[in-house]
Amino acid sequence: MAALLDVQNLSTRFNLVAHTVRAVEDVSFTLNENEILAIAGESGSGKSATILSILKLIQRPGEIDGSSRILFDGKDILRMSEPELNSLRGKSISMIFQEPSASFNPLFTVGAQIAEVLRAHLRLSKTESLCRAAEVLAQVHIPNARERARDFPFQLSGGMLQRAMIALALACGPRILLADEPTTALDPTTSMRILELLKEKTQGAGMSMIFVTHDLEILSGFAGRIMVMYAGRIFESGPACSVLEDPLHPYTKDLLAAVPRPGVFKDTGRLYSIQGRVPEAGNRPPGCAYHPRCSRATELCRTEEPALIQKNSSFVRCRLHV
Ligand SMILES: Nc1ncnc2c1ncn2[C@@H]1O[C@H](COP(=O)(O)OP(=O)(O)OP(=O)(O)O)[C@@H](O)[C@H]1O
Ligand SMILES: [Mg+2]
Repeated sequence: MAALLDVQNLSTRFNLVAHTVRAVEDVSFTLNENEILAIAGESGSGKSATILSILKLIQRPGEIDGSSRILFDGKDILRMSEPELNSLRGKSISMIFQEPSASFNPLFTVGAQIAEVLRAHLRLSKTESLCRAAEVLAQVHIPNARERARDFPFQLSGGMLQRAMIALALACGPRILLADEPTTALDPTTSMRILELLKEKTQGAGMSMIFVTHDLEILSGFAGRIMVMYAGRIFESGPACSVLEDPLHPYTKDLLAAVPRPGVFKDTGRLYSIQGRVPEAGNRPPGCAYHPRCSRATELCRTEEPALIQKNSSFVRCRLHV
């Protein structure tokens, strides 16, 4: 069966005056019906640029390479007309933005903005759409949803605004939800309830999801597959249980070792953190981009970039597995 979304050789760059940032480089993956695919990696690894590219939301000086293909139901999103894109965005594929200000206009109430999306895509009447807006706000556990719907974005707390964004993205029952760190502003209990709600939607309501996070800990039992990115490239991808329990790439191992766990201070007196830092944008080291931070790097890793190779049901970009 063909995948619902098929991303082929996606490359996205930002052409700055001083240098070009290769934010996403030759990234290919698929998303199946009812699947949750997580994209994980440190800050600046290209997670947001990847999912913004899927809805063709990259703005100048950003540019998606002409050889990239993003097939949704067999049709290439990157070659759709503006009207086609407008009917796709928010309806068939919706997005929870990392930045709350990207979702809401400060001049209109939250309820009115959700209602407008419902009217535009589902052709509901004004009264029906306002009622439905309050319902979707209640669904994401916003108390007194009817009153909150009459609030302006600045009147909601950070956590409530994040939940309102989730409500906006779910309002039209999308086939694909692109969720960019949707629970970062939430307390752990609310975060768990939202993750449960999102998971439910991928089971009952026939939704698929790409879930972006830097927090690998929450993915166990949640994501079906995980794709780990570093410096714009896929470094490892595979079934969530393999990536979390039996990681192949030294980078994935380091990321997992850096997850804070209860009692960690008791053992060593301090938290583990990966040595060095993510390469500066536009100044990527030659060879494997991770070699300056990798404890297993060899001379060859410093000069030659490894290819992404298959190992059992996973893919890994590391010479250790050749
Ligand atoms: N509008 C832009 N202009 C210039 N460079 C950009 C722009 N957006 C992203 N970049 C660069 O592209 C690279 C990838 O950025 P991206 O936002 O995709 O990272 P990310 O993995 O989502 O990080 P984070 O976890 O911090 O959200 C970074 O080097 C970033 O500085
Ligand atoms: Mg991001």
